[in-house]
Amino acid sequence: MPEIPDPSPRSRSRPRTEAVVDLEAIRHNVALLSGSAAVSGAATMAVVKADAYGHGAAPVARAALDAGASWLGVCTLDEALQLRASGITAPVLSWLHLPDEDFAPAVAAGVDLSVSSVRHLAGVLDGARRAGRAARLHLKADTGLSRNGAPVAEWAALLDDVVTAAADGTAEVVAVWSHLAVADQPHHPVLDAQLARLTAAWQAARARGFTPLRHLANSAATMTRPDLHLDLVRPGIAVYGLDPLDRPVEESPLRPAMTFRARVVLVKRVPAGEGVSYGHEWTTPRETTLALVPAGYADGVPRRLNANGRMRVWLAGRSRPVVGRVCMDQVVVDCGDDAVAEGETAVLFGEGADGGPTAQEWATEAGTIHYEIATGVHGARVARTHVNGGG
Ligand SMILES: Cc1ncc(COP(=O)(O)O)c(C=O)c1O
Repeated sequence: MPEIPDPSPRSRSRPRTEAVVDLEAIRHNVALLSGSAAVSGAATMAVVKADAYGHGAAPVARAALDAGASWLGVCTLDEALQLRASGITAPVLSWLHLPDEDFAPAVAAGVDLSVSSVRHLAGVLDGARRAGRAARLHLKADTGLSRNGAPVAEWAALLDDVVTAAADGTAEVVAVWSHLAVADQPHHPVLDAQLARLTAAWQAARARGFTPLRHLANSAATMTRPDLHLDLVRPGIAVYGLDPLDRPVEESPLRPAMTFRARVVLVKRVPAGEGVSYGHEWTTPRETTLALVPAGYADGVPRRLNANGRMRVWLAGRSRPVVGRVCMDQVVVDCGDDAVAEGETAVLFGEGADGGPTAQEWATEAGTIHYEIATGVHGARVARTHVNGGG
């Protein structure tokens, strides 16, 4: 198993609060996902929106492409153009736009664009004319999520305009696609209903003479529903090793890629009966050693982890409870009578090997999903380090 380097605890150059992203874990997860997609004859789009779910878009994209993904998926034009600016030439799909955004730079950069309405199509075509190049379209059908995508009633009108655009060379149709509403319940009947609606929308496009790809599956469907793989799967959360079915790390084939860690800034002995952190929600039951760890809710530690015992860190060889309230910048760890050094590393969450804390555990304790935990670890004070980058 690749090691995450942890140089001397005293090293001055080490960040105090750090998200370490193991690109070997990204490659492991993508190889697994793209391997199962390939069995169905499907290609894999690694979803790297929101700065790769907080893991760093360009390095993650490169690792994913190395490991078997052939497409990248993002939410915004800026995210797509940033991938291009970092030298990535693989197909990139961008899917959440205003109709009046400036699409010309994205078309010029060969970014595939999702359209969900005739208004969005008009905006994209305007960009294509200005770029002097045909826009590559993924026509999004709303098959039951009622979020983005054209509703059934507007599909024919959208296709009419696409036919005109294709005829005059301003657009080509790459795909018809949609997004699942309840993929985390693999046998929910809505999944089948969405497939049927997507297939009807795709057939309508074929009836107009197009030969589009069809794509629908996110991570959960990639891992549980090969019949939904179609031409292309779009896993996001599983790329990062967070299990879309919420299986505990020891039961999941995925490997969490992010380790969130911070170095102890202060260690001190405190007598029995002292209140700890704001509101004095915890009082030392005995004389004890407290370690102050510089990561708080401004850095991505959910304040909802407040209740004592709901949060733990891995510090000085074992798991230890965070006591008292989570603050903006810091948490307090009860170390009992153990020797803990200033500068030592506390792992807030990571791969979960040896029973250490995980993002999944935070999500459960905070009443949220691990997507929110991973994307929440960011900000000016959290250094992001990529390890095991390979070639
Ligand atoms: C359109 C679309 N496709 C795929 C994904 C990836 O989903 P997941 O992270 O559940 O695999 C997302 C993420 O929300 C998305 O918005």
